[in-house]
Amino acid sequence: MWTIGAVPDAIENKPDFSAASAFRFDVLTLFPALFDGLKQESLLGKALQTGIVELHLHNWRSFATDKHRTVDDAPFGGGAGLVLKPDIVVNCLRAVKPMNSKSILLSPAGNLFTQQTAIAWSKLAGITLLCGRYEGFDARVDDHVDEVVSIGDFVLNGGEVAAMAIIESVARLLPGVIGNSASLHEESHQAGLLEYPQYTHPRDFEGAEVPPALLSGHHAQIAQWRHRQALLRTALRRPELVNHQTLSAKDAAWLTAELAISRANTD
Ligand code: ADE
Repeated sequence: MWTIGAVPDAIENKPDFSAASAFRFDVLTLFPALFDGLKQESLLGKALQTGIVELHLHNWRSFATDKHRTVDDAPFGGGAGLVLKPDIVVNCLRAVKPMNSKSILLSPAGNLFTQQTAIAWSKLAGITLLCGRYEGFDARVDDHVDEVVSIGDFVLNGGEVAAMAIIESVARLLPGVIGNSASLHEESHQAGLLEYPQYTHPRDFEGAEVPPALLSGHHAQIAQWRHRQALLRTALRRPELVNHQTLSAKDAAWLTAELAISRANTD
């Protein structure tokens, strides 16, 4: 199941998963060993064992043609760092990407990856993730992939950690990966809001008590409390997300009052 793409094998046995049911991740990287922990641990490790998910790693260097196995070169126009060569990258992509797989180049200069992206991609047959290092990819590679994606407004040393974040967020949405799939419906970003606060025992932790609404046993009251807390938390931490919500008149009035209290407390 774990393939580090060797050139001849990858070309001759180019996979077509029209008959397969596993969700297939292909990762193109200079550092396949970085994925060792991800493959073995936790829910993803189990999903790989049970065959819900496949993860195939391919090394850019297998596609180098010179004796030094060079994959990068200096940028035209000068500047620091090295750029991955387009011939190596595109040859590797053509050889290893399964036909039904969406190709995604990872770059801090890409479209933002969100929970909505993860949901959309989890419905595909598979995705192929291209991880850069150094100064990234030659710009001409963009024309050979389906999308250029960033996981946030910060810069990593390469695409591998971004690929792992994407793999985990997509894999956990696949049927059978998470035991209690009900938890998927209530978590942060699923409905465009941050998740409501959760509590467990003890009821009193160093003087901080569990909110009484959660102890009421009254389902409608608990649901209303959670929805409003999700609204309040989102308005305080990520106000731009609340603009996309349609609120009932009562919830809007409650939120306005709570925000006024919260502002008065911080002034
Ligand atoms: N490579 C380096 N930084 C990245 C980021 N923020 N997202 C995706 N790939 C990256």
